[in-house]
Amino acid sequence: MVEKEREVQTQRRLAIIGEMSAQIAHEIRNPLQKILTGVEFLRDYCEPGNETVIDVVSKGVSSINQVISKMVEYGRTTSLNLQEIDINNMVEGIISGIRSRLNSANIKLTKDFPDKGRVELDPVRFRHALQNIMDNAIDAMPNGGNLKVSMRFLCEEKNLPSKTLCTVINPSSRLEIKISDTGTGMDKEAIEKLFTPFYTTKVSGSGLGMAMVKKIVDLHKGEVSINSKRGSGTEVTISIPMKMVT
Ligand SMILES: Nc1ncnc2c1ncn2[C@@H]1O[C@H](COP(=O)(O)OP(=O)(O)O)[C@@H](O)[C@H]1O
Ligand SMILES: [Mg+2]
Repeated sequence: MVEKEREVQTQRRLAIIGEMSAQIAHEIRNPLQKILTGVEFLRDYCEPGNETVIDVVSKGVSSINQVISKMVEYGRTTSLNLQEIDINNMVEGIISGIRSRLNSANIKLTKDFPDKGRVELDPVRFRHALQNIMDNAIDAMPNGGNLKVSMRFLCEEKNLPSKTLCTVINPSSRLEIKISDTGTGMDKEAIEKLFTPFYTTKVSGSGLGMAMVKKIVDLHKGEVSINSKRGSGTEVTISIPMKMVT
């Protein structure tokens, strides 16, 4: 009952944040559009080759727009659309999408996927969470390094191999995904702020990536933990209770 009440309260709080951010976005986007139109109008009066100021303002407006979109998305994420999916396919898909960035940043990839199977989760949101973690890992290794992605099914009953148990519907099964990098790492203070919305150390960061990860994992009733050391790298572990499907 206490658990249920807490859940209802969380849902209510998230709904309020969602409404507020949608309203704020609406109020900000209109004047922003006016700035953009005005600045583009001035472009015609600029001498050729002298458009730097216009470009700076227009880029600034577009990055404000991006932050607003992320904020609205953060606010809107209040519930899940659960579907049965092949988790290996999903993770492989995300990896294909970042392959060229890994190559150009000189990052070596290691995969460790001993288990295969279908699981029930929100594919759009979960994919988004994994993508955010991998984007951060790439950003943390500007001079190359190693990215490791591991995924396994864990079963709480001991002495039985996970594959045997996880092929039947088992309420105590968990999906565990670890993403680790050998990048800049974080100190204790940075780790404490990591999930706070708008915390960023990047020039053009939104600071909403890890806040979103936390929210998505919470909605799946899972846990996210961080193991990081300044100068050595970071390991992000997501663990989600799972209904494994045969
Ligand atoms: N893998 C990582 N290695 C080092 N620092 C990280 C890592 N992931 C996140 N961070 C730190 O946490 C901050 C917040 O991350 P995030 O919420 O994704 O926002 P953003 O990427 O827009 O800055 C980053 O700016 C960075 O300082
Ligand atoms: Mg990020």
